[in-house]
Amino acid sequence: MDLRGLDMRRLPNHVAIIMDGNGRWARLRGKSRIEGHRRGRASVRAVVELSRKLGIPYLSLYAFSTENWLRPKDEVNALMGLLRHYLAAEQPKMMRHGIRLLAIGEKSRLPAPVLQTLNQAVRATRKNKGMTVVLALSYSGRHDIVRMVQGIARKVKEGRCAVKDINERMVSGHMETCSIPDPDLLIRTSGEMRISNFFLWQIPYTELYVTPTLWPDFREGEYVQALKEYQRRRRRFGRTDEQIDRGLSSLVQPGGLENRI
Ligand code: FPP
Repeated sequence: MDLRGLDMRRLPNHVAIIMDGNGRWARLRGKSRIEGHRRGRASVRAVVELSRKLGIPYLSLYAFSTENWLRPKDEVNALMGLLRHYLAAEQPKMMRHGIRLLAIGEKSRLPAPVLQTLNQAVRATRKNKGMTVVLALSYSGRHDIVRMVQGIARKVKEGRCAVKDINERMVSGHMETCSIPDPDLLIRTSGEMRISNFFLWQIPYTELYVTPTLWPDFREGEYVQALKEYQRRRRRFGRTDEQIDRGLSSLVQPGGLENRI
């Protein structure tokens, strides 16, 4: 893998990935969709490993959307099996490398054995201080927003907060992603130009990178390409080039969104 040209001081703090194209990868090879997901799991391993080696603190993976429950039962079952196997098999490595696992989404919809393995892995890794891997499982960006509205409405109703006190920081604090910074880079494989109900609130100034490469083929080399492209982008967060040149970029750091507009 060629890391030349990658500026190790300007890596993203948080990379989010919409892993797409497992089915097409399989169809192109006359294999079953499940074989595509199996190969996709190897790409998951590759990006987690490289993120860790590079020192990227947060990696979020959109592994299963709420809409994915509508897929044929066999495929859903196979995906759940792969997920469970991945969680069990990778846990020793996560402990060895200090990886903390977080899961977001409607976890209660997961089959009991998967939920059990997931909870166990989250619990076991919760004190790890290395990188954080966020698995979005049965996740829906809109659902996350609905839950946030319910949470804040409840506080207002109970008199614990006034309507005028609702601000962006409070909204972020009621999302499932409350403990993680907004992504700096969102990668989508397989060429589709969509967000597909992944992070909606969290990506106002996230750099988007779409590659035609199908997820099972997205390995270290492709990931490095995406990171290099990210480093070529000029992030202005709504400001002008001139302001950035004058050094106002120091104000534009992850943290409160209020600082960025
Ligand atoms: C999208 O491809 C991929 C998924 C719906 C599932 C992603 C799952 C994995 C990569 C494997 C297991 C996950 C982990 C975290 C170990 P698609 O089926 O929508 O492809 P298509 O659009 O070509 O049909």
